[in-house]
Amino acid sequence: MSWIDQRPDDAMDGAFMAVAPEPLVCVEPPAFREAMARLGAAVHVVTTAGPAGKTGFTATAVCSVSDQPAMLLVCLNRRANSAPLLAQNSVFCVNTLGAGESNLADIFAGRSGVHLEERFAIGEWITLKTGSPVLASAVVAFDCRTIEIKAVASHNVIFGAVEAVRLGPSGPALVYHDRAYKPV
Ligand SMILES: Cc1cc2nc3c(=O)[nH]c(=O)nc-3n(C[C@H](O)[C@H](O)[C@H](O)COP(=O)(O)O)c2cc1C
Repeated sequence: MSWIDQRPDDAMDGAFMAVAPEPLVCVEPPAFREAMARLGAAVHVVTTAGPAGKTGFTATAVCSVSDQPAMLLVCLNRRANSAPLLAQNSVFCVNTLGAGESNLADIFAGRSGVHLEERFAIGEWITLKTGSPVLASAVVAFDCRTIEIKAVASHNVIFGAVEAVRLGPSGPALVYHDRAYKPV
């Protein structure tokens, strides 16, 4: 089996067969989105650079997986422009934004109509080990090499081995809660 477990999106419509023998019956998307709005989460800009090009996107779906070895995961919609670049470059960096960086969150969420490499016009960007763009002002940056990508429903779950960490300036972080940015 390929390390990229790609499945066509149309196979994901409607009932979704998982581990259980019966089709899963999930709550409707609006109810799920309303519920998730109550769950505060740190805001990150996930970047990549390599042979496929340079890009980044705003993400809250980031989670620690293991500390020995250090691993985390990121969930990225396969329809995002960044999805093929992340898969092909096989490296990425999770940049956790500071409380004053909601402008960067909006830019990398595509809210200002800027795409791919043009999103890096604002901010100071450096590199660590993998060559992925590291935001110098980020609260923390996790520089990762992709070890596995699993296609689940509409998203790729991207597992990364953390090859370097950079602790940025200390201070409040940016959190998305109740459909608004908040400092924590
Ligand atoms: C606060 C916030 C959090 C987001 N979290 C995610 C996420 O975890 N995964 C995802 O695929 N998209 C997420 N998005 C949406 C992407 O940032 C957005 O679709 C972006 O334009 C993708 O860029 P691209 O199409 O250039 O790759 C989030 C957007 C916002 C505003």
